[in-house]
Amino acid sequence: MDSEKSALKTLIESGEFLNRLNVDRKTSDLVFDERTLKALYEMMGKQSIDYIDFPISSGKESVVFKAYRNKKPVVVKIYKMSTLRFSNIGKYIEGDYRFHKESRSRSKLVYLWAKKEFTNLHELQKSGVHCPKPIAFHKNLLLMSYLGDQRKPAVSLREYHGDLQPIFSQVIEEMKMMYRDSKIVHADLSEYNILIHRKKAYFIDVAQGVTTEHRMAGFFLERDVANICRFFSRRDIPCDPEKVLSYIISG
Ligand SMILES: Nc1ncnc2c1ncn2[C@@H]1O[C@H](COP(=O)(O)OP(=O)(O)OP(=O)(O)O)[C@@H](O)[C@H]1O
Ligand SMILES: [Mg+2]
Repeated sequence: MDSEKSALKTLIESGEFLNRLNVDRKTSDLVFDERTLKALYEMMGKQSIDYIDFPISSGKESVVFKAYRNKKPVVVKIYKMSTLRFSNIGKYIEGDYRFHKESRSRSKLVYLWAKKEFTNLHELQKSGVHCPKPIAFHKNLLLMSYLGDQRKPAVSLREYHGDLQPIFSQVIEEMKMMYRDSKIVHADLSEYNILIHRKKAYFIDVAQGVTTEHRMAGFFLERDVANICRFFSRRDIPCDPEKVLSYIISG
């Protein structure tokens, strides 16, 4: 075990492995603590990932990379071990019967966050809600399908300049499918967490999504609806939060 560990360590530290990560030293220092590097190395082997390309997005709590798997683009989302705000994520885990029994150590919570996003994406896919296709999770990493074209990743709803009317109808319809069929409330829905890919809306960033039985599900759903209506109303598409809410929760 020890020799295995040190062999891995040597490999990780060697330029060869880092060469497959197309990121500068600054980015790699920010995201790749040793545990993350090891997890990434393990996942690259298991999932046949050839190459980690540029970061699509780098935020406080996660970094999202474009990568290549069997020559096709995929996305690796890395939850940062150090900055995920644990005080904030507890309520999305404790009240969710699917996860409340899991361990609460700091690293386990980050791992659980990746597993939760994977599980939620899977539930949404099953109901036909548009979202990235989950491929795998490993420790603090999530592997999913890439939205975008060869030139650039998909834009968020906020940055989209196309016709919003069909997008609005699709978003409301799929919020209902999410609630009724997947039995999930997104709980952080806004124009930032919807991407437009081939003129369709895709729901992303679903780690905090909870089941409809969660004691705060009603509150989260109202907030999601309010955010969505605020956005569309500002873009001259009438959206009455009360009507949308009752449409979503009616059978
Ligand atoms: N499957 C995907 N395909 C293409 N781009 C993606 C995909 N998933 C995420 N992104 C891009 O990465 C960004 C961040 O992803 P996401 O919203 O899931 O993370 P986050 O938790 O909000 O991260 P942060 O801590 O940066 O706020 C998205 O706004 C989007 O631009
Ligand atoms: Mg986001």
